[in-house]
Parts: sequence; structure tokens; C-alpha cells
Amino acid sequence: MASTHEILGRDEVDDLEAILAVTNTDVDEVQHLVKSNGDAIFTWDYDRSRPALGKLYERAKKSQWNAQTDLPWDTDVDQEHVVLQNALTNNMTFGSELDTKGTPFEKWGDAEWLAFGVQSQNWTLSQFLHGEQGALICTAKVVETVPWIDAKYYAATQVMDEARHVEVFAKYLDEKLSGHYPINAHLRLLLDDIIKDPRWDMTYLGMQIMVEGLALAAFGFIQQMTTEPLLKQLLRYVMSDEARHVAFGVLSLQEYYKELSGPEIRERQEFAFEAAVRMRDRFLQQEVFEHFGVNVKDAVHIVMQAPDRKVFQSMLFSKIVPNCKKLGLLDAGDGWLRERFTELGVIQFEDWTDTGEEYATLDEVSKDRETATA
Ligand SMILES: [Fe+2]
Ligand SMILES: [Fe+2]
Repeated sequence: MASTHEILGRDEVDDLEAILAVTNTDVDEVQHLVKSNGDAIFTWDYDRSRPALGKLYERAKKSQWNAQTDLPWDTDVDQEHVVLQNALTNNMTFGSELDTKGTPFEKWGDAEWLAFGVQSQNWTLSQFLHGEQGALICTAKVVETVPWIDAKYYAATQVMDEARHVEVFAKYLDEKLSGHYPINAHLRLLLDDIIKDPRWDMTYLGMQIMVEGLALAAFGFIQQMTTEPLLKQLLRYVMSDEARHVAFGVLSLQEYYKELSGPEIRERQEFAFEAAVRMRDRFLQQEVFEHFGVNVKDAVHIVMQAPDRKVFQSMLFSKIVPNCKKLGLLDAGDGWLRERFTELGVIQFEDWTDTGEEYATLDEVSKDRETATA
């Protein structure tokens, strides 16, 4: 069993100093190389013996959409106006309502907080973009490494989905927003760990359950919140795909975990915990504060006190926790992961709907097609 230090590289989960010390030092790199371990597996067993995966594959084939022609790219986006509208419509704390006395934000007025909102959006969408590329690479790897033919078929459709997601976020950032950010160091650490691990099920756990589970919740939150119609539609469509991807993870791992021993399951619990913490750490948005030249540690303390920030941060885990429960990871062994999720303050989501059940209801692409032909 690994210690917290072995899992996270620090003794205390909430050691802010240690979290902020992890920074991206290769911000100008154009390529990032990771040794992808794992065997490419041919299977000569072409029997379609996994009907749940077969059903998912059929749905994926029907729900393909075209990033160039199915979204209203001619929508005008005035980013500052959108940031203001979003804050007003959702009754969100715009920085000036925080108690900033004696902090780096003391002299900030509405103009500075608006500029912060704009950069925060550039940062958030940039991280979605990089995460989507991580999903593209991981899913291509799953095609090679998973031993089941039904899973190879399905994963192939996901590779296409992820290419489309990279495409839409890159286009939205280029044409509608005002700047890109490099990948956040915590996100990169996690993606590297997922890709390096030679075990096929670890790719699934890291990507389909943890990264995509968080993405599905984050996209859902922003989709609900945004007043910008193009982004709203874009996220609706991306979520239709993501729900299938998470379901793919749940359905595949549910079967595989039944074969694993106690110590093997414990390793999966530890990996899930590592991924959860890395993703939480990245949402500190340290690069945005650096952009404004304020002391990051002080800034994080203040901004994290905003009530909507706390809600957002815990909501990110609303898909991950029920899915981990469905896989038996929450309570396996001595309930180690339940304790960790309790410490992270996200255990309250354990009885929410798991994604193995809900993906069909999130298929907005099929719903739109049915309406169009009715
Ligand atoms: Fe995606
Ligand atoms: Fe995905």
C-alpha cells in the first residue's frame, strides 16, 4: 500500500505550498513526448459477446456530428459582454464582492475583475482543449491494448469523437476567445501517468472514469451557466459524446474488476485518488494569477472563498463518485477510497445517478435529429 507521499509527491493533500510549486516550466514547447507502455493485443475471438458495449457502439455510430457544419459558428461572441452576462444571470460573485482588504486584490475594481473573468475563461477552455487531446491519445491506446473485440470497436468511435472535441475547442479558442494557455502542470502530470501505465484498465480508469467523469460534470455546469448560444450548443454536443465515453469505462471496468484481487483493487483505488487530487489541484488556476502578476498563494486563498467557487469545485466530482461506487472502488477492502473522498469533501455525490445508466438521456444529437425529422 502506498503512502500519500508516494501517491501525490507530498505528505499533506492540502499543502498549498507544495501544490503551487508544481508548475509548467516548458511553456514554449511544441511537442511533449511520453513513453507509452503496454502491449498491443490482437484478438482472434471476434464473437460479439458483450451486448452492452455493442449497444453503445451502435449509438455512437448514429450520433456522430460534424464540428464544422452542425454548430452555429457565425454567432458573434463579445467575450467581455458574455463574462458580465454570465455573472449577472447566475448571480455569481464578481470579485469585487469578496473581502479583499490587505490582499493583492485590494485595488482591483470592476475593470480588473472583468479582465480576470476573461482570462479565466481563456484558461478553462484551453485546459479543456489539452484534456481532449489527452483523451484522443488515451483512446487510440485503448484500441490497441484492450483485449475484447466489442471494446476495440467502441473505442474506435471514441477516437473520432475526441478528434472532433479537440477540433471544436481549438476553433472556439481561436475564433471567439482572446488567448490560449499552455497545459496546466497538474493536468499534464495526470495525463502522463495515465499514458505511461502499461495496464489497459488503468487507461480506462484514468481517462474514462476520472478525467472524462470530471469533464462531463464541468461541461454540464458551464453549459447550464453560459449565456453564449454557440458555447451552449457546442457543450451540449460534446456532452452527448462524453456521457457515452464514461459509460464505456463503467461497463468495461465493471466486468474486469470482478476478476481482480484485493491488492490489485487497492492499486486502482490509489490511482483514482491520485487522479481526483490532481484534477482538483489544477482548478486553482494558478497560471491565471501569474498572468496578472499577483502573489498566487494569497490570490488562491481569497478566490477560493467565493461561494460559487466552492460549489463548482465540489460539483466537478458529481459523476466520478457514483461511478467509482458502481465499480466497487468506494468500499472495496477497508473502504479506503470512501475515506479519501470524504476528506476531499465530495462523498455526498455517492448516490447520484451513475453514467452507466444515464448516457442515453444525454444524447442530445439524436434528440435534435428526431425533432428535425418529425
Ligand atoms: Fe472528449
Ligand atoms: Fe471523451
